[in-house]
Amino acid sequence: MNPLNDVDFLSVVLRWFHIVGAVVAVGGAVFIRFVLLPSAASLPEEPRKKFRAEVSRRYAKLYMASLGILFITGFANYFMYAMPRHQGQGAYHGVIGVKIMLAIGVAFIGSALVGRAAAFEGIRKRAPYWLAINILLAFVIFALAGIARQIPDSIGP
Ligand code: HEM
Repeated sequence: MNPLNDVDFLSVVLRWFHIVGAVVAVGGAVFIRFVLLPSAASLPEEPRKKFRAEVSRRYAKLYMASLGILFITGFANYFMYAMPRHQGQGAYHGVIGVKIMLAIGVAFIGSALVGRAAAFEGIRKRAPYWLAINILLAFVIFALAGIARQIPDSIGP
């Protein structure tokens, strides 16, 4: 019997998109915080402002797309696969619940950083600080995902 017949390819595709979304959203933030911003700091003010605006304009599209993919695949994965597999397991749903709340925090801070709303100018003015916070939250999300993955299913095979 070919073991590939038992593979649920929709679940594989959802997980693939979820991980790619996380790589783009968090990898981009790490690159901007620890490589791009420090490198741009040596530029004179006018070219630096122009360069950051150009980066922000391009990264905003990529960032918002990866956030969209993360939330859509996350909830699809949760309702279609994780909830049925972890019925009645408060610990599992608690871990995912905290993960979702942190994800909303990451999405809010990230959108404020790449956005242009005047209300969040204060956040953009302290971009290195808020980017570091966002990366830290994302790393906690990764840890929670790892814990969730280790919690055995509540229903039999
Ligand atoms: C910033 C946003 C997010 C990041 C960086 C993120 C990251 C991750 C990562 C790296 C995994 C592990 C993938 C694996 O090994 O299978 C994962 C799993 C998961 N994520 Fe997310 N995620 C985010 C948002 C969400 C949201 C909003 C939901 C909505 C419910 C969600 C639901 C899940 C579920 C159900 C799993 C599978 C856990 C399990 O193995 O039982 N994620 N996430």
